Amino acid sequence: KNDPYFIVKNTDRYINYSNKNSNLDTRKVVSSVNANIDYDYYTNIQKVNNQSYLLVIVNKYYALDENYVPDTLVSIASPYGWGKVDKTLYENFKLMADDARKLNLNLYIASGYRDYNYQKALYNGYLKNEPVSVVDTYSARPGHSEHQTGLALDVGVKNEYSLGKFESSPEFTWMKNNAHLYGFILRYPKGKEYITGYGYEPWHYRYVGVDVATYIYENNITYEEYYAYFVLKK
Ligand code: DAL
Ligand code: ZN
Repeated sequence: KNDPYFIVKNTDRYINYSNKNSNLDTRKVVSSVNANIDYDYYTNIQKVNNQSYLLVIVNKYYALDENYVPDTLVSIASPYGWGKVDKTLYENFKLMADDARKLNLNLYIASGYRDYNYQKALYNGYLKNEPVSVVDTYSARPGHSEHQTGLALDVGVKNEYSLGKFESSPEFTWMKNNAHLYGFILRYPKGKEYITGYGYEPWHYRYVGVDVATYIYENNITYEEYYAYFVLKK
């Protein structure tokens, strides 16, 4: 009960999860259960309630409809990338990319909005080469990708087409320390795989607005934890 993110109605689940995982400390038990990790992946799925669209959550437990297309999409223009994203994300991305450019850093949106069928093709493509248990650690199943909200982006840097190399770029170092000032969070951080259900993705950011992003950055929590405690609990 002393954990900062303790939620009373989750008490039984904390106890059960703790009993099944006696190696976990209280902080890990609370953060995991708040993120629904005590349920198997892709079980207990809820349809996304889109009332507060900037604070929507999409993950292995929250799904978008197959035909959901955000009505806030705008086209990305050069040199900011290509494809489409949410208009609020785009305005803030441009502010961030323009400030970064003054420091000789080049940020662009390598992947923004992806519709249901595109995500389905990506996921099924990966399944041809790797087992589902592996694919589920790096690709969302269709309807479960944040990219379908238009509020997620994979960041690329100039002349670099491999997302895997982003982590070693000065652009990444700058974004790690500054992205929250423009409303973006690193969505799948290192060391939080047990909460997000995904491996570390240094290139994948989510727009949540400056206040929420700053809280998440300063308190070193994931969006799953923020959502359970501050959005759902209300
Ligand atoms: N790579 C992220 C998890 C996605 O597929 O949406
Ligand atoms: Zn991504």
